[in-house]
Amino acid sequence: MTPELRGGPDEVRARIQTLRAEIEHHNELYYQRAAPEIEDREYDLLASELIELEAAYPEFAVADSPVRTVGSDRAEGFATIEHPVRMLSIDNSYSADEVREFDKRIRRALGMVEQAATAESGVDEAEVTAEAGAEIEFAVETKIDGVALTLMYEDGDIRYAATRGDGSRGDDVTANALTIRAVPKRIGSAQTPAPAGRFEVRGEVFMRRADFDALNAERRRTSEPEFANPRNLTAGTLKSLDALLVAGRTLDYFVYATGLVESDLPETHLETLDYLTALGFQINPHHWLCPTVESIIDLIGRWESERNELPYDTDGLVIKVNRRELHERLGSTSKYPRWMLAYKFSAEQAETVLEEILLQVGRTGAITPVAQLKPVFLAGTKVGRATLHNADELERKDIRVGDRVVIEKGGDIIPKVVRSLPHLRTGAERVFEFPNVCPVCGSSISRPEGEVALRCVNTSCPAQVKERIKHFASRGAMDIEGLGVKLVGQLVDEGLVSTYADLYSLSLEALCALERMKEKSATNLLGQLEASKSRRLGTLIFALGIRHVGASSGRLLASNYGSLEALAVASAEELAELEGVGEILAAAIVNFFADEKDREIIRQLGAAGVNMRRLPEEAIAEATSEKGLAFSGMTCVLTGKLESIDRAEASKRIESLGGKSSSSVSKKTDLLIAGPGAGSKLTKARQLGIEIIDEAEFLRRLGSGGGTDGGQP
Ligand code: IVH
Repeated sequence: MTPELRGGPDEVRARIQTLRAEIEHHNELYYQRAAPEIEDREYDLLASELIELEAAYPEFAVADSPVRTVGSDRAEGFATIEHPVRMLSIDNSYSADEVREFDKRIRRALGMVEQAATAESGVDEAEVTAEAGAEIEFAVETKIDGVALTLMYEDGDIRYAATRGDGSRGDDVTANALTIRAVPKRIGSAQTPAPAGRFEVRGEVFMRRADFDALNAERRRTSEPEFANPRNLTAGTLKSLDALLVAGRTLDYFVYATGLVESDLPETHLETLDYLTALGFQINPHHWLCPTVESIIDLIGRWESERNELPYDTDGLVIKVNRRELHERLGSTSKYPRWMLAYKFSAEQAETVLEEILLQVGRTGAITPVAQLKPVFLAGTKVGRATLHNADELERKDIRVGDRVVIEKGGDIIPKVVRSLPHLRTGAERVFEFPNVCPVCGSSISRPEGEVALRCVNTSCPAQVKERIKHFASRGAMDIEGLGVKLVGQLVDEGLVSTYADLYSLSLEALCALERMKEKSATNLLGQLEASKSRRLGTLIFALGIRHVGASSGRLLASNYGSLEALAVASAEELAELEGVGEILAAAIVNFFADEKDREIIRQLGAAGVNMRRLPEEAIAEATSEKGLAFSGMTCVLTGKLESIDRAEASKRIESLGGKSSSSVSKKTDLLIAGPGAGSKLTKARQLGIEIIDEAEFLRRLGSGGGTDGGQP
């Protein structure tokens, strides 16, 4: 596809500059903030337009063009790791023809073309004839939609774990990576000794959908904003400076490649995967050998629907030349290895009418435009609303009220408006005018430097007040049962409360005067409010709604400061020194306590008798109950022969450590414990991508998971 080049060099230069700026903007959203606004497909279209323009107009090309460098995901607060072998990206394709073209490109590069062009390729004529027409063998595997992580071992012991960063330098995230079960601290066994010297593996960190759904269900219960999709949550978690938080979120890891290796490796990629398994790594179970390019295309057709059965998100297939020796001969560009190609599946889309644009104001004042749609079915559910992200997006995509629009459900739980269909406009559509005042309270709107969101500046805005009170009362916070969304709305609208401290001066009469409020419910609510006064300090700190302070940071701050009074006078420097608190978090805490209004609210909470000190039992509880048991909430299946423990005893032990034992493998199964002779259950578990462990690992988990102590052979 040749880009349409309208106008002279000035226009072309301007277009190139716009494309670069746009691509850099989307790189930042994707890599730095884990909050992409456009689909990969759209991104690739922008990139290919830029590539073509730079090729056609080399005078405007620059070395650091975003299409020649890898987007960076470096974050603050981590040490730098220089990658001994660069971490590249993968070139994308979207059609069977592009896959066939890839196969041809490789043959051409290897001199395996039929007759033509042999003279200038400089390859020996006899060799060409021998190889011409031969097939290249490919390994194909699912493309996991997560975050790349490299692990370096030395003589079998882990040295560090690092993110891709800009491809040359990444972030040292060892502490976080070590909380992931599938990241072995030591590799090798009696049968497969650890490789000598340095041995680097590369793979993808991801979160299973069930774990993601469970986290979001909890956030719904606690009225916290939900996470958009498992990939973004994985990226955010891996970059968290709070290792406690990381440990609480079950991340997983599949290895798919090697980096720097100072020992010998097998000759093919698929044999290398087997070797990596033998060393103790978890390998993505879905990989195939495709002897011809047409067999890849068949596989793509089959996998398009089958991929939905997997318990984690994939966004395509990765096609790799199987023989390692050819990898070296093919080499790479500055961005991609030439021996690898990703085939991307497209997200499900539907067309409908955008009837209205609504504005939502969140707890911190961020204003989000939301599309109200004519309801339409998409990927099995009826969709009536979709996000429009922010004002910039709306303008950039030229989406108008009344437009026919394309909506899409990618990995995200909330569908989004992809684009409008301007050729279907009737003239009745209207450009949405973003108000310059808050739609709820009429105060002015600001756009903090470096942020895309518009914010209502009035901290007393009823929309913000309601969201803050909802958060304060939510389950993970002060846990005030009976204080739901509706009641909070009534209390604020009637002027009975304007801060969460006001909750504690509500009277029975005032509550009973509310519409549809019975005396019994009012009495219960007052009882709940009374009980909430003795929550732990960590809980209170979280409930205050300080930006960036989550439940685990709340606990951390409580254990370091011991009282709200002490925390209130802590300096940013002092806070930032705490393990797990970065500069952003430290600044947010200092800002919060610097605000006279917040200090007054805290005085009122204190006067109402809300606990503001760390209770002695808080330390004890933290040290014991919050560790969790080895099989908490897991459904486990036993299969094959177990050597040192009988089935009944094994089931009992699983249950004593918080799990459930079941006899058949299904989508609900979390773990398969497989001994020798395992058959169909093992096959099914592999197909479903369920975690599979052997007896030795099972015994290890029984041993390290607390709980009963007897019965271990
Ligand atoms: S091989 C040169 N294999 O997709 C990169 N990558 O979009 C070598 N990914 O950066 C990677 N599944 O983070 C490889 N089976 C797979 C993969 C995979 C997911 C990720 C990887 C890569 C990204 C590119």
